Amino acid sequence: MSDGAMPPINLRCECRQNPLGIDVRWPRLSWEMAENRRGTRQTAYQILVASSEDLVRREEADIWDSGRVASGRSFHVDFGGPALRPRQHCHWAVRVWDEEDRATGLATPVWWEMGLLEAEDWQARWIGVADNAAGNDTGDVPKPCRSHLLRKDFEATGPLTGARAYVSGLGCYELWLNGQRVGRDVLTPGWTTYAKRVQYQTYDVTSLLRPGRNVIGAITGNGWWSSGLGFSRGMSQRTTAGSPRIILQLELEHGDGTSHTIVSDATWRAHPSPIVEDTLYHGEVYDARLEQPGWSEPGFDDGVWAAPKILPDPVDVLVAQQTDTIRVTAELPAVAVTQPQPDVTVFDFGQNHAGRPRLKVTGSRGTRLQIRFAEILTADGMLDRRNLGGARATAAYTLKGSGEEVWEPRFTYCGYRYAELTGCPGQPPANALTSCVLHSAVPVAGRFECSDELLNHIQRNILASQRSNMFSVPTDCPQRDERLGWTGDAQAFAPTACWNMDMASFFAKYLRDMRDSQHESGYVHDVAPAVAVRGPAAPGWGDAIVIIPWTLYRFYEDKRVIEENYAAMRAWVDYMKAHALGYLYECEHSQVKDGYGDWIAVVESPKKPIAAAFFYYSTKLLAQMGRIIGRDDDAQEYTTLARHIAEAFNASFFDPQTSHYLGATQSANILPLAFGVTPPEHRPAVLENIVRDIRQREDHLSAGFLGTAYLLPLLSDNGYHDLAYRLATQRTYPSWGYMIECGATAISERWNPDTGNLNMNSWNHFALGAIGQWFYESLAGLNILEPRPRAEDEPHARFLIRPRPAGDLTSASAAYESLHGPLRSAWRREANTLQLDVTIPPNSLARVCVPTGGQANARVFEGETTLLRDGRTEETVDGLRFESFDTEGYAVFTAAAGSYTFRTEF
Ligand code: BGC
Repeated sequence: MSDGAMPPINLRCECRQNPLGIDVRWPRLSWEMAENRRGTRQTAYQILVASSEDLVRREEADIWDSGRVASGRSFHVDFGGPALRPRQHCHWAVRVWDEEDRATGLATPVWWEMGLLEAEDWQARWIGVADNAAGNDTGDVPKPCRSHLLRKDFEATGPLTGARAYVSGLGCYELWLNGQRVGRDVLTPGWTTYAKRVQYQTYDVTSLLRPGRNVIGAITGNGWWSSGLGFSRGMSQRTTAGSPRIILQLELEHGDGTSHTIVSDATWRAHPSPIVEDTLYHGEVYDARLEQPGWSEPGFDDGVWAAPKILPDPVDVLVAQQTDTIRVTAELPAVAVTQPQPDVTVFDFGQNHAGRPRLKVTGSRGTRLQIRFAEILTADGMLDRRNLGGARATAAYTLKGSGEEVWEPRFTYCGYRYAELTGCPGQPPANALTSCVLHSAVPVAGRFECSDELLNHIQRNILASQRSNMFSVPTDCPQRDERLGWTGDAQAFAPTACWNMDMASFFAKYLRDMRDSQHESGYVHDVAPAVAVRGPAAPGWGDAIVIIPWTLYRFYEDKRVIEENYAAMRAWVDYMKAHALGYLYECEHSQVKDGYGDWIAVVESPKKPIAAAFFYYSTKLLAQMGRIIGRDDDAQEYTTLARHIAEAFNASFFDPQTSHYLGATQSANILPLAFGVTPPEHRPAVLENIVRDIRQREDHLSAGFLGTAYLLPLLSDNGYHDLAYRLATQRTYPSWGYMIECGATAISERWNPDTGNLNMNSWNHFALGAIGQWFYESLAGLNILEPRPRAEDEPHARFLIRPRPAGDLTSASAAYESLHGPLRSAWRREANTLQLDVTIPPNSLARVCVPTGGQANARVFEGETTLLRDGRTEETVDGLRFESFDTEGYAVFTAAAGSYTFRTEF
């Protein structure tokens, strides 16, 4: 049943390709149309789900056949078959019908597999070696626990058709089977609010098993569970919850339909591992002399090993892995190696990143090498570690003395550009150390580049900071003794993050972490998982619980994320309402009076208006999201509340004489303007005040984490695009260019990384990287329009392409892998022509605004066709409809799917 059109591609289940071990009971399926002819659009689909790939190909859907569904929907389509069983393996494919009712062939089948769904599906017990150092209640900083090896010998009989390992651990585990490492994931099971929810991983281990004796083994580490997290600068460091433990269930399926399960229990064997010490902040100490060769293989004598203990089940619920795991995504060689002192070798990896070293050495038994990390060097070429706080960030390795030895720490990571190796006999070779880049391996989604090398450099630094700060949760920084899921940073950076990478599942998981630690009174915490700081969260931080769902909805049209978070966001807004005086929220922050304000701003803004502005913004977004999911009464109620807040805000903080908000700083004026608090008649004057302030500072901004995110879009959208461009391309303090002048290879926490608070300055903090959104949306002109209700078979103008050439920029381009397929905008100008190449993904429409240089008589071409001459339509082309000129002189077209080359002469 195919009319020859190409079958759909990029089939995903729950946003992932072929996910193994999911626990979403009604998973959502997505795909893209492969063809991108002009106007390609889907009018119907048919999904087939079967128990084998062969059945799908034969179109015998024994699990679910959706039948032909007249619908343009190609993403987040709910699985509509019977309730799925634990472990069920589902193969699926889809065909679609296009705008001329031509059917495509069936897509190449893909699959998903359910994991364990209920507590009853687990027969395994948590096991480990109880360690008295853990969980003591003396008020002392608890010691990390000793890493152990755990092993279990078992017999596999008969031919195997499949084997799955369901496994989790606290803090972290690494899984081994018959001498092989299972999977490539690092620091599993990742970080969550452990008391509420711990992720488990599922591995297909069929190919690692052999007939007869087998051994499954695990190495335990402290990770986020028992490392002692938090600041060591006087605040709580007591997050240690107990000794490390694992839970594992290995299920073997035989061809005859029988199965055999090996579980973690008291029959396992345990022994201290060669990892003598491991914590996230301080590093890892490894003694290769303590290795147990062959420990995870059959035939190893574990007679002197002890039995582990069954340990209490520490969690409410085990959930399937909810986002991409942490992995090594690159290995960096040193770009320079120096010896600033005898026996001190400094490796420069050329790039600030989060990761761990890979050591390759030869030497005599018992030699102890030490590796320390730093982001910067002192003037004499030694490591400058003043900004690491209490983090020792040190790895140590004692050689066993058996030829070349290769070692990577397992249960620690650090943020650095430089590593220092000491203790080496003689001068180590340049390849003695490489660096393994680590982060949650979220797929890349976007790319931005332009003719200005400085902006390209900023974009590279943004990507570096984004990668370095995705460790199961979005962290503030990877180097000092924090590395926590700071909510304010995450919300400010969320749109940029979504342009660069596919953040759908990563942020959805983070929101669960926030919800898991929400207080019963409704407040959320500054960090999620909530460690080290008490609630309520600061203004602009806690609001992440509302702003991030909204961002995800904008990017991924994900209503489920609104539904999942709705109660939590409403509780947060209600909490603020209950703590408002005359509609102005009064934050009772536990650490810093009235919250963090506009963190690291050059000029501080009064904090009370910041609290009130975010209260307004969260309330307004809550109302909008309530409407989207059909909570009309709520939408009404919160719209009214937002109006009251705005009135109170303007009455209390706005001075109509000067058109300044209290404080008269850039951020004091930016926030009410960006959030829509300012009455329309006052908007121009408030904006003028911001512009004047920037000009008085010789074209520099003065905002911090909260104001910066909104400043450039605000300027560009309101007639000051060239000024925004000027801010973006500044090289003097404070600016992104200044960070680079100081040598930054990632985004720094402060505008003055060189002279600010040198003990508390991270060179790798993504928050100020929020400028990335402006690169995509303003410079290149890619925009995702707010989803709107539409008929099922109607493609919608999901995108707006409206590039804004600026200053001396001669070209800019951005490409983005959207829900529907590739979206692209690339412009280039020469003398008095401008060329704009755009690609609108299949099954969508876009509004394309072609710059005309403000010339009403400009000529606009598409390919060889003259579309407009002297402001009038001359010829038409398929897929394009001229609408009008907008107020800035752009020629506005509605464009169907496809690629277009516009050219304007003016
Ligand atoms: C973190 C920030 C965080 C802030 C709160 C800092 O120590 O590194 O990124 O948002 O505290 O103001």
